Amino acid sequence: MTFKRVRKAVFPVAGLGTRFLPATKSMPKEMLTVVDKPLIQYAVEEALEAGVEQIIFVTGRGKGALEDHFDVSYELEDTMRGRGKSLAAIEGIRQKPGSPVYIRQQEPLGLGHAVWCAREIVGDEPFAVLLPDELMVGAPGFLAQMVKAYERVGGNLIGALEVPPEDTDKYGIITPGGIDGPLTEVLEVIEKPAKGTAKSNLMTPGRYILQPEVMRILDNPVKGAGGEIQLTDAMAQLIGKQPFHGYTFSGDRYDCGDKAGFIQANLALALARPDIGPAVRGFAERLLG
Ligand code: G1P
Repeated sequence: MTFKRVRKAVFPVAGLGTRFLPATKSMPKEMLTVVDKPLIQYAVEEALEAGVEQIIFVTGRGKGALEDHFDVSYELEDTMRGRGKSLAAIEGIRQKPGSPVYIRQQEPLGLGHAVWCAREIVGDEPFAVLLPDELMVGAPGFLAQMVKAYERVGGNLIGALEVPPEDTDKYGIITPGGIDGPLTEVLEVIEKPAKGTAKSNLMTPGRYILQPEVMRILDNPVKGAGGEIQLTDAMAQLIGKQPFHGYTFSGDRYDCGDKAGFIQANLALALARPDIGPAVRGFAERLLG
């Protein structure tokens, strides 16, 4: 079967990042760096690798650094060129004219609301959603793996990863049906089920390929877990009406919305780097005795 291509990706980046204060007082949390690259760039590169052409940021006040990051940095580039320095580290970040698109959420009403804010830009085609807090490392990347599976099954596809049972109240949790390799049929998806009530430990890690019908559901928003308009609740309404699968990524996930997860990402990615890996390894070994 051939399905409409996934050409657009929505990045909800309006969050305040209160868990990382004071670092995020005047800096967007998506600009926190893992080794030498901001979180948002990892997510954008993951989308581009998957064939996405249109990057859509749902943003808010105080996020100017994000916009500048993907633009020309005239003074920096000119000075570096003048000094004969390589521009390799920043080449390729700048997007083509007209991309990214920036839209404002205006009010922090929840992830479902943030995604709905992109409805006019998304239009009538399937689209991806990537939460940049979740850093995914794999070859190919998470979204590229999902797009490949999507080309086979169509419909809606959401990331599906196991977490320890005691953590299920922090995430969207899938009730799984039949399993076919990395694909799991989704029977139900529940946002942050109360402790002890989760039907599995399969969580949705912030990677989605959704059909545009989800926007029509979000036209009539309902408040869910935490009093927020939840994306999970809206997409759950498509189960049974359209194909709906979970996709289990082969690769590594780092929850960079959490301080320990963020440090873990920095350590793991630093250790994997040929330039600084050996020095970091020596240092970490000494530190741990
Ligand atoms: C959001 C989603 C949740 C998902 C999680 C992944 O929750 O609502 O379904 O499992 O991201 O990190 P949040 O972390 O914004 O509370």
